[in-house]
Amino acid sequence: MPGETHRDDWHGDHTEEGAALQEAGVDAVVASGFEAGGHRGSFLRAAEDSLTGTFSLVPQIADTVNLPVIAAGGIADARGVVAALVLGAEAVQMGTVFLACEESGASPLHRQVLRGKKAGHTALTKGFTGRLARGIHNRLLEELNQAGTPVLPYPLQRRLVRNLAIPAEAAGRSDLLPLWAGQSANLSTCNDVLAFLTSLVGEISEIGEFAIQWSAAIRENQSLK
Ligand SMILES: Cc1cc2nc3c(=O)[nH]c(=O)nc-3n(C[C@H](O)[C@H](O)[C@H](O)COP(=O)(O)O)c2cc1C
Repeated sequence: MPGETHRDDWHGDHTEEGAALQEAGVDAVVASGFEAGGHRGSFLRAAEDSLTGTFSLVPQIADTVNLPVIAAGGIADARGVVAALVLGAEAVQMGTVFLACEESGASPLHRQVLRGKKAGHTALTKGFTGRLARGIHNRLLEELNQAGTPVLPYPLQRRLVRNLAIPAEAAGRSDLLPLWAGQSANLSTCNDVLAFLTSLVGEISEIGEFAIQWSAAIRENQSLK
């Protein structure tokens, strides 16, 4: 079972999937980098063969499709949102950053690890659910990623790990919990979701629209060349 798998050995184009989604008639494309917490959608290839960073993926997808692009993966604050807009996204999808909020459905231990800034090391695993997902590197993830550890197909593996997570949670063992999180987990400052979003929108509002227009103008100029 591979842990952090980065495969650059296939000869496809990372934008193929965006083009295929446009062809299929979707309304928008989510460009999800491998930094993202949890599962990532991949349609043309295995998840292990679809690992591109957000910074590289978003502008390439924006150049490929004539649809709104939603950037996902590693975006945790106003800097990340504005960067994504400059790269050609018209919206962002944030996941991990909300896990630490009081309102999140994450378990108290999971939130505690995130708030304690102990989420600097994440890794990919199929061991949580049977599908490739990113979580905080702890004992559970490390053991599930050991070579030769059998992993059941999704969603059976999820059930199996859930049966371990319930007693682990009761025993206060965050090292044995599946701690879903993306690479920017330590950037999360969210305690109260409304306060977090109000502050985020305030920080972005001055520059966001300008960033989108600037990026669209750059792409327009490039396509005229
Ligand atoms: C706990 C958790 C579970 C997720 N589950 C899924 C999922 O089942 N399918 C999916 O396409 N994306 C899933 N995601 C990814 C989010 O939809 C989103 O794209 C991602 O969280 C964005 O990256 P970030 O976590 O770095 O903010 C999940 C994310 C988290 C944090």
